[in-house]
Amino acid sequence: MTVPAGLAGLAGAHSVDRRVYTDPDVFAAEMLRLFGRAWLYVAHESQIAHPGQYVLAEMAGHSVIVMRDDDWRIGVHHNRCPHRGVRLLQEPAGQVPQRLSCSYHGWSFRRDGTLRAVPQASDYAAGLPGRGLEAVACVQSYRGFVFARLAADGPDLVSFLGPVAASLDNMTERAPEGRIEVAFGSLRMMQHSNWKIYLENSHDGVHALPTHRSSTEPARRAAEHAADPWSRFQAQVVAANAQSLQAMEQLAVHCHPHGHSEMVGFRKARAADPQYLDYESALRQRLGDEGLERVLGQDRHNAVIYPGLSVQPAYLQLRVIVPLAVDRTRIDVWLFRLKGAPAWMDRRTVAYANTIHSAASVVRADDLENYERIQRGLASGLEPRVRHDRRLAGEEGPVGLSTAVGERFIRNQFAAWQTYMGGGST
Ligand code: FES
Ligand SMILES: [Fe+2]
Repeated sequence: MTVPAGLAGLAGAHSVDRRVYTDPDVFAAEMLRLFGRAWLYVAHESQIAHPGQYVLAEMAGHSVIVMRDDDWRIGVHHNRCPHRGVRLLQEPAGQVPQRLSCSYHGWSFRRDGTLRAVPQASDYAAGLPGRGLEAVACVQSYRGFVFARLAADGPDLVSFLGPVAASLDNMTERAPEGRIEVAFGSLRMMQHSNWKIYLENSHDGVHALPTHRSSTEPARRAAEHAADPWSRFQAQVVAANAQSLQAMEQLAVHCHPHGHSEMVGFRKARAADPQYLDYESALRQRLGDEGLERVLGQDRHNAVIYPGLSVQPAYLQLRVIVPLAVDRTRIDVWLFRLKGAPAWMDRRTVAYANTIHSAASVVRADDLENYERIQRGLASGLEPRVRHDRRLAGEEGPVGLSTAVGERFIRNQFAAWQTYMGGGST
């Protein structure tokens, strides 16, 4: 493809050309330059605990196989036969036997991706050495979260994550045994909107009142009258969107290098009921009083690890952003279990996801409607620029402290976007 000239110039310091959301050529360039060069989350180690266990992930439009080999190393390979390109694995997760065979002409591969056997091998004129599965250039794990990068050059994973790694630390440290695991598979949601629109809603405290008005008032009443604790919990989660602008202004949004950001506060994840105190005492056994406060005293609401991941440590959820086309995005929501925590916490994790993230959520339905209206509105072409200048005064520059009423985190995302799209290394 040809990359449009002056592409990085489509984004300014606080406004962007609408084509960054609507132009298929921009999208194709984003896959090459941005998703092709950033670290992307591909799996959690608990999903590939044994040799041959694998999960499929998407990287910049490529299907990849994340698998543990016979030496217990984690490899990430393109899900594509090197002979004529057949997609090798179809199921999103599973177990590969000793060899992985292509369905077309029967070439087979070991679990580390190397070529094992080729029927009628001498018939291939160019020879066969080295024709194993194509490996993704970089694979690194951070506390069990596996990230991969298509490009060979760039910062290591820890430098890339920077301060936002603390949200992954916090999620893991909440476990009484100090380990977490993926539970329940994933929720998948299709959106008819550009991938950036989803991230730009992440810490937007101003949208909550107008967008979610239809659900907040009934939820507040339901929270008062709920007969059982789970209905009350779900109603309280929805009702949190009714917070005033003054309250939103108290919520810190930290904007970090590489387009990452994190919002603190919004919901109180910590509770005082006997069930929750049971969990706290299990965690206290590992961490002591001071450690317990350090982990549960942090009210980290959500963090964006730009461009492909959102983390909610207190509710044990990851959201993976999978761009499919300029106007189509899939969100995969992964739910985690704290090892050593009481079983009711699983129910809370699922209840939270159903209430907030699933396609059936009364909250998400309103957000999705907005995202699609944005996409349709921008496609009309009447307004050439999209502005992100809310609370610009006093918050010049992309990185630094902001609040849930500011748009600094969006300006920060576009600063990273510009660097990637201009060909620089972030
Ligand atoms: S395409 Fe896979 S063996 Fe031919
Ligand atoms: Fe929302």
